[in-house]
Amino acid sequence: MASLTIRKLDDTLKAYLRLRSAKNGRSVEEEVRVILRELADGRAEPAEAVAAVPAASSAPVPRAASAAGEPRITLIIGGGIAAYKALDLIRRLKERHIQVRCVLTSAARQFITPLAASALSHERVYTDLFDAESEFDAGHIRLARECDLIVVAPATADLMAKMAHGHADDLASAVLLAANRPILLAPAMNPLMWNNPATRRNVLQLRRDGIHTVGPNAGEMAEAGEAGVGRMAEPTEIAAAADHMLRPPQPRPLAGKRVLITAGPTHEAIDPVRYIANRSSGKQGFAIAVAARAAGADVVLVSGPVELHDPAGISVMRVESARDMLHRVEAALPVDVAIFAAAVADWRVVSEGTQKLKKTSAGMPPLQLVENPDILATISKLKDKRPPLVIGFAAETEHLIDNAKAKFARKGCDWIVANDVSPASGVMGGDRNTVHLLAREGKDVTVDSWPVMTKEEVAAALVSRIARTVGTAS
Ligand SMILES: Cc1cc2nc3c(=O)[nH]c(=O)nc-3n(C[C@H](O)[C@H](O)[C@H](O)COP(=O)(O)O)c2cc1C
Repeated sequence: MASLTIRKLDDTLKAYLRLRSAKNGRSVEEEVRVILRELADGRAEPAEAVAAVPAASSAPVPRAASAAGEPRITLIIGGGIAAYKALDLIRRLKERHIQVRCVLTSAARQFITPLAASALSHERVYTDLFDAESEFDAGHIRLARECDLIVVAPATADLMAKMAHGHADDLASAVLLAANRPILLAPAMNPLMWNNPATRRNVLQLRRDGIHTVGPNAGEMAEAGEAGVGRMAEPTEIAAAADHMLRPPQPRPLAGKRVLITAGPTHEAIDPVRYIANRSSGKQGFAIAVAARAAGADVVLVSGPVELHDPAGISVMRVESARDMLHRVEAALPVDVAIFAAAVADWRVVSEGTQKLKKTSAGMPPLQLVENPDILATISKLKDKRPPLVIGFAAETEHLIDNAKAKFARKGCDWIVANDVSPASGVMGGDRNTVHLLAREGKDVTVDSWPVMTKEEVAAALVSRIARTVGTAS
C-alpha cells in the first residue's frame, strides 16, 4: 500500500488541505482520510466550498470533538519517573471514550517510548517543535487547539516553572503557551522539589492563571526510603478529573419527578386507508421530553404518529387516535407534571368505515363528525390523580392571546403555552417557535412573551421554569 507525505504535496493543495481541516476541526491527516472516504462513497466536497475561508480567520477555533462525537485531550507527558503511569492514563481516558493525542518531552523519552504512547492512543505521537512534517502548518498551534482539554501528566517541576514564566523553547511548552483550552496538571516530583519555595511560587502562579491541578498525593517515592507529598495522582483519579472538566455533571433539578408529555398529531380513521390529521411534527413535544430528561425527570412521552426517533432514556408510547392517547395518559398517572403539547384532533367520524369508502353515483359519502375527548380538560379536572402542574398548549392562527386566555378558562389547567401556528409563522413542522406563557396568579393571568427561539430553546426555557416551580432546586 502506497503512503502519502503531505509535506511533499504542492502548495495549493497544502493550502486547501490546511483550510479544509481547520474549517472542520480535524488534523490534516484526518482530513485526507475523510476526503478519500468521501471520494470512495461518491460524495466529495467541491474545493470551492472551503476556498472561500479567509487564510487568517479570527473566527473561533473549531471544536475538536471527533467524528464519533468524543472529546479530545492533548496529553503532555513530562520527564519524570511517573511517566510510565501516563501510559495507563491513556488507557483510562480511552475507556471513558476520550480521544488522546500525546506530546512527549525530550526528558519523557528517557522514561517511555513514543511507540508505546502511540500504540495505546492509536494516534501519532509528537515530540519535536522543529518537525518539518507537522510544523508546515504550525502543528504546535493545532496541538494546543484541536482538543477540548490539555492534560500534563506527569507535570514536572521544570515544566511548571516554564509555564509559570511563559517559556516556549520546546514542543510541550510551546503548546502550553499557545493554548486556548483549559489545562489540567498532575504534578509529580520528589517532596523536596514540591516543597521548594520556587515550586510553591510557580504552582501558586499557575493556579492564579486559572490552571487546574489534580494531586500530588502523599506516599512513598521512587527514591528508596523517601516519602511525602509529591506522588502523581493515580491515572484513574486524573482521568476522572479530566472527564469532570470535559463533561461537568449537569444540574438535575427535576430528579425524582415524573413528567408526562404528549406530542404530535392524532390520526382519526375515516376508513381503513383514510384519516383526519393535522400538520404537527411532534418536534416541540419531543424537545420538551428531552429537556425534562436532561433535568433528571423520569419522562413518559405519549406520541401520535410522527417521524421522530425515540429519545434515549425516555419511555415512549406511540398512539394513533385521541382516544388511544387519553387511555395512555390516564394509565401513566400519577405524575408530578403533565404537559399536553400534542395537537389532538378535535373531531373524529361518528362511525369508522370497516371497508374503504367507494365513490358512488349518489356523490360524496357524508362524513358525520363527533367531538373527541378533551385530554387537557379531562386531566385538569381530575379529583384524585390531578397532577400538581398541568400545562396545555394553545395553537392558534389568530387572536393568539385572547383565544389562549379563553382556553385557560375552559380547561382548568395551570399554565398555557400559546403559539402562533398560522402558515406564515412556519411553526408547524418547522424548527422555531414563538411562544407566550400564560400562568394563573390568583384570579389574574400573567402573560410572559418569549422571543423567537428554536424548539429546543423553548423546551429548555419551559423546563427551567417548571424546575423553579416544582423542582428540587425550587
Ligand atoms: C531518574 C529521574 C527521575 C526524575 N523524576 C522527576 C520527577 O518525578 N519529577 C520532576 O519534576 N523531575 C524529575 N526528574 C528531573 C527531570 O527529568 C528534569 O527536570 C527534566 O529537565 C524535565 O524535563 P521536562 O520538564 O521537559 O519533561 C527526574 C530525573 C531523573 C534522571
